[in-house]
Amino acid sequence: MTDTILRTTNLGKKYRNRWAAQNINLEVHQGDVFGFLGPNGAGKSTTIRMILSLIKPTDGSVELFGHDLFKEREKALFSVGGIVEKPDFYLYLSAYRNMQIAGSMTLGRTPDKKNILETLETVGLIDRAFDRVKTYSHGMKQRLGIAQALLTNPKLVMLDEPTNGLDPQGMKEVRELITRLTKERGITVFLSSHLLNEVEQVATRMAIINKGEMVVQGSTAELLKTNANKILLNVEPKKKAFGLLKKMKQVAEPSLNDKGITARIEQKDLPGVVKILVKNNCKMFTIEPKHSLEEYFLSIT
Ligand SMILES: Nc1ncnc2c1ncn2[C@@H]1O[C@H](COP(=O)(O)OP(=O)(O)OP(=O)(O)O)[C@@H](O)[C@H]1O
Ligand SMILES: [Mg+2]
Repeated sequence: MTDTILRTTNLGKKYRNRWAAQNINLEVHQGDVFGFLGPNGAGKSTTIRMILSLIKPTDGSVELFGHDLFKEREKALFSVGGIVEKPDFYLYLSAYRNMQIAGSMTLGRTPDKKNILETLETVGLIDRAFDRVKTYSHGMKQRLGIAQALLTNPKLVMLDEPTNGLDPQGMKEVRELITRLTKERGITVFLSSHLLNEVEQVATRMAIINKGEMVVQGSTAELLKTNANKILLNVEPKKKAFGLLKKMKQVAEPSLNDKGITARIEQKDLPGVVKILVKNNCKMFTIEPKHSLEEYFLSIT
């Protein structure tokens, strides 16, 4: 049996007359790295804020570890840690001192030295523990934020865009950290992002949200199942090729976008299709298989 540790039921938040998030039905299982994917303004932060009880929902309910967030707030949030948007630090103090202060706020007491050092070790900041945060890179600050969220020994960590603004190396470090948290410490991680390729690299399950509404949810493997017949053609001139493809009966659902032309073409028909394009003086640069989620996500972002 899968153990659902976070469940939202028809969760929604309305600001004035607009729903920032509506009918959000998330199901996060123990041990998941759960990716919450959506373009800017989709409602990710709003949803995370509701789950962390930082704002009051207009509608629906949240259950954490079997406890209703609104009836048993303390019990529900007991094993949950998180950061929403950018974490704040005392820049002139060391990471160690920041951890002491953050800990005394969340735990109500100064955390033990051992706990702080182990946590800084986990996030890869142990060598810089006593340096001022001012001297930290963006990626290091991001990992310090995660360290602060870990101080209470949570079983579920909610991270809002933990890789936002990081370079590829910084992103990789955060991804590796997330994997470590689940593998080594058994922590379930919920993270939001607006980048599909980033989420698909770490998430075991994911949900997509757009314009405040949930579009799809499921296992990453299931959602990314390649659709063998869906391809992206990088061909020039695009418009001319598009016109030709539209007329071919072996080509289904052609659509023109920035990256080229996507269409559904059976493999056995592909050489024939390419031949016609080339005969008509179109230049074929690449043909790539597409998974349907990527194209879908592209179309809403
Ligand atoms: N306090 C608020 N008052 C009014 N509208 C708000 C408020 N907070 C968020 N919204 C609106 O709700 C919608 C969802 O915002 P939210 O911050 O949840 O999106 P997001 O998915 O986190 O976006 P981003 O990727 O840019 O962080 C947006 O249209 C936003 O303008
Ligand atoms: Mg946000």
